[in-house]
Amino acid sequence: MKICKTIREMREQCEAARRDGKRLGLVPTMGALHEGHLSLVRTAKKSYGVVAVSIFVNPTQFGPNEDLAKYPRNFEQDCELLEKERVELLFAPTVEEMYPQGVVTWVTVEGLSEKLDGSSRPGHFRGVTTVVAKLFHIVQPDAAIFGQKDAAQVAIIRRMVRDLKFAVEIVACPIVRERDGLALSSRNAYLDLTQRRQAQVLYRSLMRVEEMWEAGEKNVTKLIEAGRGEIGRERSVRLDYFEIVDAENLDTVTNAERGALVAVAAFVGTTRLIDNVVLGE
Ligand code: PAJ
Repeated sequence: MKICKTIREMREQCEAARRDGKRLGLVPTMGALHEGHLSLVRTAKKSYGVVAVSIFVNPTQFGPNEDLAKYPRNFEQDCELLEKERVELLFAPTVEEMYPQGVVTWVTVEGLSEKLDGSSRPGHFRGVTTVVAKLFHIVQPDAAIFGQKDAAQVAIIRRMVRDLKFAVEIVACPIVRERDGLALSSRNAYLDLTQRRQAQVLYRSLMRVEEMWEAGEKNVTKLIEAGRGEIGRERSVRLDYFEIVDAENLDTVTNAERGALVAVAAFVGTTRLIDNVVLGE
């Protein structure tokens, strides 16, 4: 695996791959890799001749009181995992490389970026779309592979690609979970044993809503009430949002049709976790 720390090196490697006629798949990450990330890499390996992974803890998507400083960083171990998956290219730039002094240009997907996580994390999605746009320009991949774990992120990136005419196919992969249902996340590393058990409530709340929906309940108010109620039963978990929205434009819906996105965010201790299901999938 070739590790590129500068934009120039990464561009050269990607250009060389394209000159060889190889199709390029990009998997953007912030590192602290787990099976969720690796499932994206494996999907990319199946369809693309060269797979590029980026590891960059993107400061602009963290709020001032969030976990940027303590976000888990395991570069050596990440490299070993990616070597095992036979990844060809790793892009691991510094903050100065991606955001040199004086940058004032942002990519914002208006409207969508204020919904779901965007409403409780102002500026978060502006940071995401800006860094992903930079990565797309540097790598110029044929496809970029994202996880459905961050469903709002997928919807917003799809819209950015459509609006800015990026020639990149966006591929979304299913959520990888622990045996008890907890969605894998780099932030699960913050949880102690008690919190780890409490964190199960996120998935439980989604399953409760899905069961009710399958039994015929389509009223969003009632479904959300049930989901919130389930979270409320775990006393030390603090709900951030529980919403049912259109999976494409993230607008709230009144009737839960097949394909609607049920999304939850909650704090377990100080750790903010998110999860979701798509109804009928
Ligand atoms: P990060 O949280 O590291 O996630 C990188 C990718 O892995 C995202 O597409 C995310 O949805 C996916 N992922 C994480 N956990 C997953 C799981 N349990 N199952 C399936 N996929 C999972 O998302 C980001 O980084 C950043 O916002 C980024 C896009 C890299 C921009 O900085």
